[in-house]
Amino acid sequence: MSDAVRINNPSATGEVRAHGAHVTAWTPAGGDPVLWLSPLADLSLGSAIRGGVPVCFPWFGNGPGDAYEPKHGFARNATWTVVERTDECVRLRLTDADVADLPGRDRWPHAFTLELAVCFGTDLLIELTCTNSGDTPFSYGNALHSYFAVDDVRQTTVAGLGGASYRDKVSGGSDVQDGPIRFTGETDRVYESVADAVVDDGTRRIMIIKTGSADTVVWNPWQDKAAKMSDVPDDAWPHLVCIEAANAPGHEITLAPGASHALSQRIKVPERSAQPS
Ligand code: BG6
Repeated sequence: MSDAVRINNPSATGEVRAHGAHVTAWTPAGGDPVLWLSPLADLSLGSAIRGGVPVCFPWFGNGPGDAYEPKHGFARNATWTVVERTDECVRLRLTDADVADLPGRDRWPHAFTLELAVCFGTDLLIELTCTNSGDTPFSYGNALHSYFAVDDVRQTTVAGLGGASYRDKVSGGSDVQDGPIRFTGETDRVYESVADAVVDDGTRRIMIIKTGSADTVVWNPWQDKAAKMSDVPDDAWPHLVCIEAANAPGHEITLAPGASHALSQRIKVPERSAQPS
């Protein structure tokens, strides 16, 4: 039985899966798909789906000290529960009771409730809320690891991060972004930035408006790394770029018992002639 919830309303079509609370598609009415999903994505329960919007939790990457497995935490491998569904929105929930047997859970043994609300309309709105349901404080990292479809990443720019400092995971160094980002090779950067970003591939712009996120991660594997990834076709890497609303290592969120934190992103595709608002 498929774990996919499909939405089809006058403003958009879309899909979110109980597996990982993973948004795998969003197409605004009259437009093209905005998210990139690998044709080789492994959609079987328990695996990490390549493309769409993976949910990273309770750590980003390999977490504090680069010491945690699996990469990006266990939430994307878990089976969430669909708790509400309307013509436009879906709400899914994951609690500590659902992840007892998952790899990585022993590294982060806290009591939590995680909810993902997604609304498929003219905009795509995704909000990830974590509540500490235990009786001791905890810290965690997270990300909405969005894969966007672009014509060719080599002709694509990302605006909004000029002046932000970043950690370059490819070179191991750090730098400050000068103007829009352009892509000339493998790119894997963690920008310290709360700013919104605009992807422009020359055909359309995609705006990513975020809240509750201290970092923006920008990733494209490029040719050699993509060739080593079994779930990415060899010729697909030019057609994707990840812009991730994150709280990466160093920017973990600490929650007291009963407290909550929300990470959200609103994705907009403005008309070519219109100024983004
Ligand atoms: C990015 C990381 O967020 O995700 C990269 O910064 C990583 O280092 C990429 O390669 C994809 O991760 P995964 O686990 O989905 O292959």
